[in-house]
Amino acid sequence: MTQMIPVLDFGSQTAQLIVRRLREIGVYSELIPHDAPAHTIAHDQLAGIVLSGGPASVYDDGAPQMPEWVLQSSVPVLGICYGMQLQSYALGGRVVRAAQREYGNASITATCTHPLFAGLETTQQVWMSHGDHIESLPNGFTPLASNPSTPFAAMANDAKRWYGIQFHPEVVHTPHGRDILRHFALTICGATPSWQASSFVAEAVERIKAQVGTGKVICGLSGGVDSAVAALLIHKAIGDNLTCVFVDNGLLRLNEAEQVIHTFRDSMGIKLIAVDASDEFLGALAGVSDPERKRKIIGEKFVRVFEREANKIDGATFLAQGTLYPDVIESKAPDRQKGVTIKTHHNVGGLPDDMTLTLVEPLRYLFKDEVRAAGIELGLAEDWVWRHPFPGPGLAVRILGPITRERADILRLADNIFISELRTAGLYRQTQQAFAVLLPVQSVGVMGDGRTYADVIALRAITTEDFMTADWAHLPYEFLAHVSNRIVNEVAGVNRVVYDISSKPPATIEWE
Ligand code: XMP
Repeated sequence: MTQMIPVLDFGSQTAQLIVRRLREIGVYSELIPHDAPAHTIAHDQLAGIVLSGGPASVYDDGAPQMPEWVLQSSVPVLGICYGMQLQSYALGGRVVRAAQREYGNASITATCTHPLFAGLETTQQVWMSHGDHIESLPNGFTPLASNPSTPFAAMANDAKRWYGIQFHPEVVHTPHGRDILRHFALTICGATPSWQASSFVAEAVERIKAQVGTGKVICGLSGGVDSAVAALLIHKAIGDNLTCVFVDNGLLRLNEAEQVIHTFRDSMGIKLIAVDASDEFLGALAGVSDPERKRKIIGEKFVRVFEREANKIDGATFLAQGTLYPDVIESKAPDRQKGVTIKTHHNVGGLPDDMTLTLVEPLRYLFKDEVRAAGIELGLAEDWVWRHPFPGPGLAVRILGPITRERADILRLADNIFISELRTAGLYRQTQQAFAVLLPVQSVGVMGDGRTYADVIALRAITTEDFMTADWAHLPYEFLAHVSNRIVNEVAGVNRVVYDISSKPPATIEWE
């Protein structure tokens, strides 16, 4: 039975990060709504409970309350920010609105030694984001740390095993936040750090077996790490009852189709239908320049081709999808503030409404880094595991203007030079995404004695934590010069290379 420390979600934007940190420590965690009914909680699996932060004030009308089952539970409880205020409020302490909201970097000083802060300096940097703070502690609690604007930055009641911290240990701006969470999970809760690649692979395999039984599953392979790991997990669980479908839409990277076929069919022995539908896709895209129309055409075409191929598989009743845990969390939290959509991300593989297949989502409880760890555990080559994300519409959104096979070929060659040079220089893993873009303009050049009027390639490489914001990668000039040289010399029809130095925002990562 898996021990877990769930995080009760009181609405903080970083609640998900607490779950990630606990899992990184090796303790299984899930984000659960603060008002989840008590009977939905696996009480016998609890090693502890974390209460997340949140935007409310405990005095607001309708502010989220401390669940009765938490009050009744005997396991240790850690309240973070709003969670701490709620602990205090629920047990008779005094929470007040501070004269000034404390937001950003702050330093706190420990007022005593405590296992929660074991081995840490007396004064440390933390990230604060709160309006209310605690003015007097509930009975039985002692202060652990303070600063001039937050008299009780941390508190403890060791007899009850309740702890509160006013700052956010889950964010990188609290350098020792992980240590504090580790002390809570391992020392105070006494949890065993057993959540690791081998355990979540084993669990996922058991779950798939239980869901699918002797049924047959279809899995679309995209060339990305998520669908690859999903396929490997399902293959481990049900062997030949899995058939993968890979659609070459003519907008893949150089040799991508061959790599997918080699890796999955030849090396892993997975049943794979590979279909070259490039004529169909490129035909449907002919003359189309508008990025959103490109996405729509590709999405619709994909569904049709995929369905056609899937119908050839006798008796399949399940369809695998690479849904990750963050998608699940987001979809379960409709009250979470929604960001503004900048571009529609029609993921290729969008399902038609009348689809009769049952979904199998083996990555449903995994974060991206866990998917990668599972990939390694399952024998997927490192090159795959660490692949940069590639958009569903593929090169279509990197060929600005109308798409032709010739233009796709030019871009493929240029992109391959850039990516292989990044790998050779050891820079690939230092960027989170890198690619070439074929611009819809031509420019004058000179080659030998003659003038040329030819295509322009833009190189894009970014560093990012979450793809929501990104910085352009500060690649060495010598490296860029070398890549530029190779592209203009080796890719016929290109006479100029530019490097994109825009961050996101205001730019986006892709050009379309
Ligand atoms: P942007 O360009 O919005 O990209 O900064 C953020 C991340 O999303 C990827 N992206 C897509 N992925 N279908 C996808 O599956 C799409 O239509 C799409 N558009 C952008 C992009 O590559 C980056 O990783």
